[in-house]
Amino acid sequence: MTADFDEKYAEYQQYFNDRLKEYCDEISTVPEVLGESMKYSLMLGGKRIRPVIMYAVGEALGVEREKITPYAVAMEFIHTYSLIHDDLPEMDNDDFRRGKPSNHKVYGAGNAVLAGDGLLNTAYSILFGECFKGSENISAAKIVCDSAGIYGMIAGQSADLLHEGDEVPDEDVLGYIYENKTGKLIIASATVPSVLAGGRNYTELKEYGRRLGLLFQLTDDILDVCGSFEDLGKSIGKDKTEGKLTAVSLYGLDASKVRVDLIGDDCYKILDGLDCQASFLYGLVDFVKSRLR
Ligand code: IPE
Ligand code: IPE
Ligand code: MG
Ligand code: MG
Ligand code: MG
Repeated sequence: MTADFDEKYAEYQQYFNDRLKEYCDEISTVPEVLGESMKYSLMLGGKRIRPVIMYAVGEALGVEREKITPYAVAMEFIHTYSLIHDDLPEMDNDDFRRGKPSNHKVYGAGNAVLAGDGLLNTAYSILFGECFKGSENISAAKIVCDSAGIYGMIAGQSADLLHEGDEVPDEDVLGYIYENKTGKLIIASATVPSVLAGGRNYTELKEYGRRLGLLFQLTDDILDVCGSFEDLGKSIGKDKTEGKLTAVSLYGLDASKVRVDLIGDDCYKILDGLDCQASFLYGLVDFVKSRLR
């Protein structure tokens, strides 16, 4: 990773945060607590890696940022909703998120459920708004919806809960959980710009997103053991307490770290097959890996 990469990442992130703020300023609800609780979690920050992936792939393929923004905002709404629900006592029972008390610790579990519902629903409304613009926009919107749904993130979260405390951890089950709970939103982030560019490099970008998603969850699981609250802004050691099936519980810490390098190499190989300038996309692989250092 280079200084150029860091600068570019920060620039994408800032551009996205400014757009997100504009969308948030439009939200005004009765009762007020509904919108307030949605904005609380959205504006706490976060890496914004999914929007950054969208803008970066879009730039590599020549898609203007303005075209990407509604999808990036919808994606971050959906991701944030998944985090609010993920932290609920009935799911992972996490009191901190993005360095601050989790949504339910501030607003209570009932409001947190509704804040998540509100974010999902608003995301769909944003996506519907794009569908009037043409068939590529409809396909891109459907990709985001499907990635979040019962064959995507929600399925992964369901399997994550079902397999808590498994006596015999299963590699295929872990792969299913990773690919769905985390992978699907990242795959959608990499493929939406391709669809908006008429399908250019679609197959390669789908595969890149899939591997990057696996890498992302793998590092998240390792950081749950080796990371710090200061760096991550969320509780550490929760996966073990909750009996989660993770790479660390299945393979052990050292073997999990070896897998990080292997999956990272897979990502580079896939990027070698793109027909466009993709140096930032290589950098994103290094960025995810570097979180372990
Ligand atoms: C956390 O996602 C949940 C996982 C899929 C591991 P992020 O690590 O992207 O969280 P933020 O958005 O930066 O807070
Ligand atoms: C969450 O995975 C994936 C989601 C869809 C939210 P984790 O449960 O490991 O995410 P963290 O560690 O709470 O961020
Ligand atoms: Mg979870
Ligand atoms: Mg969690
Ligand atoms: Mg985790």
